[in-house]
Amino acid sequence: MALREKTVVITGAARGIGRACAVRAADEGADLVLVDIGGDLPEVPYPLGSADQLERTARLCRERGASVLVAPADVRSSAAVSAAVTAAVDRFGRIDALINNAGVGAPSGRPAHEVTEEEWRVMLEVNLSGPWRLITAVAPVMLAQRAGSIVNVASTAGLVGYRHFAGYVASKHGLVGLSKAAALDYAPANIRVNALCPGPVRDDPAVDGQMTAVVADALGISYEEQEAVYLESVATGSLVDPADVAGAAVWLAGDDSRMVTGTVVTVDAGFTAR
Ligand SMILES: NC(=O)c1ccc[n+]([C@@H]2O[C@H](COP(=O)([O-])OP(=O)(O)OC[C@H]3O[C@@H](n4cnc5c(N)ncnc54)[C@H](O)[C@@H]3O)[C@@H](O)[C@H]2O)c1
Repeated sequence: MALREKTVVITGAARGIGRACAVRAADEGADLVLVDIGGDLPEVPYPLGSADQLERTARLCRERGASVLVAPADVRSSAAVSAAVTAAVDRFGRIDALINNAGVGAPSGRPAHEVTEEEWRVMLEVNLSGPWRLITAVAPVMLAQRAGSIVNVASTAGLVGYRHFAGYVASKHGLVGLSKAAALDYAPANIRVNALCPGPVRDDPAVDGQMTAVVADALGISYEEQEAVYLESVATGSLVDPADVAGAAVWLAGDDSRMVTGTVVTVDAGFTAR
């Protein structure tokens, strides 16, 4: 029970890696604040997590004994993020860990100069400024506690380039940089900040996973073709599961990693080892 009596805020919790993190954190004894937009964005060419999916994550966590606050918020809005964090503190009195997981993988699929200003902006707003807004809202709480752990879910796209994904790659490189800088800002107050970089993740139906399908769509190929490309790129011969990422997120969130800060933990089946 690595997170017993800890309160963990998770963004992008409606499905995918965020749901896997929530369920695993509940198994580890955490109480949870589940944040998600619970609706679509006009600039993003695929459905985002829905309110129903967010409720499903909450139900799965409650079934495991967790107290759960569902706090819908668009991470592009400082006011919405601030309201969610205030509600979290009102309910639980403290925030021990933040898993900054909300992100979008598209609009993508074109060379950098063909990305429109709106497409560039939404990618940076959600994937980079969103985590910064959460850190901004949560930091005063953690500073007062003189304790906390922040896990920023970046990507191997935060470490290497991917063709036709300039906005995504730039946002995730930025998030790795933010993690290192914030780690230095908050280390004197016993607050740790790390980046977690998943590699090719299988679309697991158990968590309504769909990011590999989104990538395939952006590149105009089938899911099977994208999976074949991914399998070719990894060293282990199999893709990462959302649960593999959740295991690393929970380790970073909890005290077993108390001397780990400002680093990058890669869960990529050996992709970046090559
Ligand atoms: N699946 C992969 O292959 C993979 C690989 C590396 C990194 N990642 C990263 O992991 C994270 C989770 O990805 P996933 O595969 O579970 O994707 P997903 O699309 O299944 O889940 C992302 C969640 O974030 C939410 N979200 C998006 N924009 C939001 C906003 N503005 N405000 C609040 N919530 C918002 C969505 O509603 C959704 O529920 C992302 O940051 C992604 O970039 C995923």
